[in-house]
Amino acid sequence: MAEGTTGEGRLWGGRFAQGPAAAMVELSRSTHFDWALAPFDVEQGMAHANALHRAGLLDETTHAALVAGLSQISDELALGEFVPAEVDEDVHGALERRLVEIVGPDVGGRLRAGRSRNDQVATDLRLLLLNAASALSADLVALIDALLGQAERHAGDAAPGFTHLQHAQPVTLGHEIGKHIHPFLRDLDRLADWARRTSVSPMGAGALAGNGLGLDPVATAADLGFAASFENSIDAVSDRDFVAEFLFCTAMIGVHLSRLGEEICLWASTEFGWVALDDAFATGSSIMPQKKNPDSAELARGKSGRLIGDLVSVLTMLKSLPFAYNRDLQEDKEPVFDAIATLRLVLPAMAGTVKTLTFRPEVAAAGTADGHALATELADWLVRRGVPFRSAHEVSGAAVRAADEAGVQLWEIDLGAVHPSLSDEALDALTVEAALAARDHRGGTAPQAVQEQLSRARETLERYR
Ligand code: ARG
Repeated sequence: MAEGTTGEGRLWGGRFAQGPAAAMVELSRSTHFDWALAPFDVEQGMAHANALHRAGLLDETTHAALVAGLSQISDELALGEFVPAEVDEDVHGALERRLVEIVGPDVGGRLRAGRSRNDQVATDLRLLLLNAASALSADLVALIDALLGQAERHAGDAAPGFTHLQHAQPVTLGHEIGKHIHPFLRDLDRLADWARRTSVSPMGAGALAGNGLGLDPVATAADLGFAASFENSIDAVSDRDFVAEFLFCTAMIGVHLSRLGEEICLWASTEFGWVALDDAFATGSSIMPQKKNPDSAELARGKSGRLIGDLVSVLTMLKSLPFAYNRDLQEDKEPVFDAIATLRLVLPAMAGTVKTLTFRPEVAAAGTADGHALATELADWLVRRGVPFRSAHEVSGAAVRAADEAGVQLWEIDLGAVHPSLSDEALDALTVEAALAARDHRGGTAPQAVQEQLSRARETLERYR
């Protein structure tokens, strides 16, 4: 047989007079990354064997032999005994090679009937990503749980709230921490929503036109645990929306982690001093003996770049791609595997970092009213007495100017001297406690409202557990 025929383990030797050049083999090979699909390719192979059997194309004995061969491969994979060989182009070819080694060519050579690597790879990748989404969701649950624990602990402690990284209005520390919970809860919801749309089996679509052997895609979909089967065989093998969408979910998680990471870095800085990092989730310096750095938070921030890059890679690869399968599609895997591996590293480290942070509520509270953060309270006090906000804003601004000129706090100036509509009665409103208590609506920063917010978040979290 000529080089490169099926006799050498390739899936497509027949029409070639000679085998591929070494450079072609190297470019074409994907086993170094698509091996991650192997367990799912075995699962999908079993379902395909069942489909062939149901269609009357495999007798009992042959079907049983194929299933036994595949389950042996599954065991070998788990033990790390089955590994890619030089001749294997991709994971699908490798599996057929091994199956033929185990059950012989007459039995092993039957499994490829009515399927193509095009519907196979699309199916395998959906199965793998559905699996990964569950694992990532569990990692997210642990991170949210850690954030909830800290937020609950500090639900009633006052802290400065910021806009433009300047003191804006007082908030509670539990509200500050709690604001990170909701993005991650949305990420959980996004992954669940993605999973619903992704649970569609491409098996039976063949190379593109469907199968001509009477294999029922609906039965195979059910066999594999998918909620539905494809509507259009060409779309089934061409669609990678589920990869791009998954990568949007992971990029969004990355962005949320980066914003949390950035705040942990700020909070742990000498200037803020709001938190102390646990030794277990910090690193030191090779030259400065005193250093304790928030590297987990910095890596969470830094790795968001590659997560966004993974999404952009796949969208760019898909753009303008003709239907149906093109080899470009093979480039979907490395970015999506990278995104999974990256988050599976970062999420547990961030959960540990958050869980072990020691907040210093007295430090956070100390600066709460600085920068005249209660100026809005003065304006609101005037509004409650019938002054239009436009004027109230002016009057409160004049009080800020007077306090600044005297180098004192708002509540230390003679309010009545600033404007006739002001008086010392406004002093009651000029406290952090009053500012917090006034915002006792749903979603507000009053301690009671924050407690309610957090208990609803906990209920939502328990539903995902
Ligand atoms: N390894 C390919 C991929 O990952 C699947 C094989 C399809 N190859 C083909 N020549 N139709 O997309």
